[in-house]
Amino acid sequence: MNIIETNIKRRVSAVNLLQKVIFIMDISNSPIAFCTVVSQQLHCLCPRSQKMLAIELCRADIEYVGVRIKCRGNIGGNMQPMKANPVRVLGISGSPRSMATEFLVREALRIVSEKYNAETEYFSAHGKKLEFCIHCDFCVRTKEGCVHKDDISAELYPKMTWADAWIIGTPVYQGTISAQIKTIMDRCRAVVARDRKALLNKVGMGIANGGDRAGGQEPAIHAILGFYIINEMIPVGGGAFGANSGAAFWSKDKGAEGVSEDLEGMKSLRKTLARLVETAQKLKEY
Ligand SMILES: Cc1cc2nc3c(=O)[nH]c(=O)nc-3n(C[C@H](O)[C@H](O)[C@H](O)COP(=O)(O)O)c2cc1C
Repeated sequence: MNIIETNIKRRVSAVNLLQKVIFIMDISNSPIAFCTVVSQQLHCLCPRSQKMLAIELCRADIEYVGVRIKCRGNIGGNMQPMKANPVRVLGISGSPRSMATEFLVREALRIVSEKYNAETEYFSAHGKKLEFCIHCDFCVRTKEGCVHKDDISAELYPKMTWADAWIIGTPVYQGTISAQIKTIMDRCRAVVARDRKALLNKVGMGIANGGDRAGGQEPAIHAILGFYIINEMIPVGGGAFGANSGAAFWSKDKGAEGVSEDLEGMKSLRKTLARLVETAQKLKEY
């Protein structure tokens, strides 16, 4: 991560996300501008004003961690990330109840919609008919989807293929994901059997909340990230100093009230959402 200083004394950081483009992030890790490197100068496009701002480089190689550069133009203010081609985000709540997990996934969708202008869809396991995969291989033999006709095939499959990015939220059950989320994951075999590229390069993150402070949130998130890898999706966490593998919450078994009081959890959620949307945006631009 490269540190830059602006002429308004505001410290922001620049992240080299993909080879040629650098995102300038504010201190809450939200992207406020995009830059490309032109010789010794960093040319910065402010999304709101569409104005080119020249930023002097102190050192030629901005790839090095900790390089300090000074900004001649003002890149501060309330700039929003680019919104030309909105990212489509699907949120899945894997709790059989309408409580903590549902609150968190809905909150995540609210944030990506309001902050990043994302389009959103939502699916909750609450009250839904979710059939287990029975390994009948109907999907592999026929390539016509799943033999089960339930709420996953009717409602969730179309949302899955529509989305550029997924948020899977789970309560922690026995130190890992809920049975509802595992069922949804297993049923994705039919999606990929029908179209090998159906999930390719979609971006995904995980949210886990447990009644205990260290009740298995990390293993649950890692199970979600592993699922993304297996299905050729791109898993993201929220980065060090606040989020690491993803969004982890301690509900104290108090439902939405419990998780909304978990300020560290909320920080991990915002940081991970920023990574999710940035990554999905860059992939859409490619
Ligand atoms: C079957 C079951 C197993 C659970 N196992 C764990 C666990 O291993 N670790 C933990 O921290 N909480 C565990 N819990 C508590 C839930 O993770 C916690 O109450 C969570 O906030 C529920 O989310 P919800 O309100 O969205 O349903 C378990 C709850 C149930 C019903």
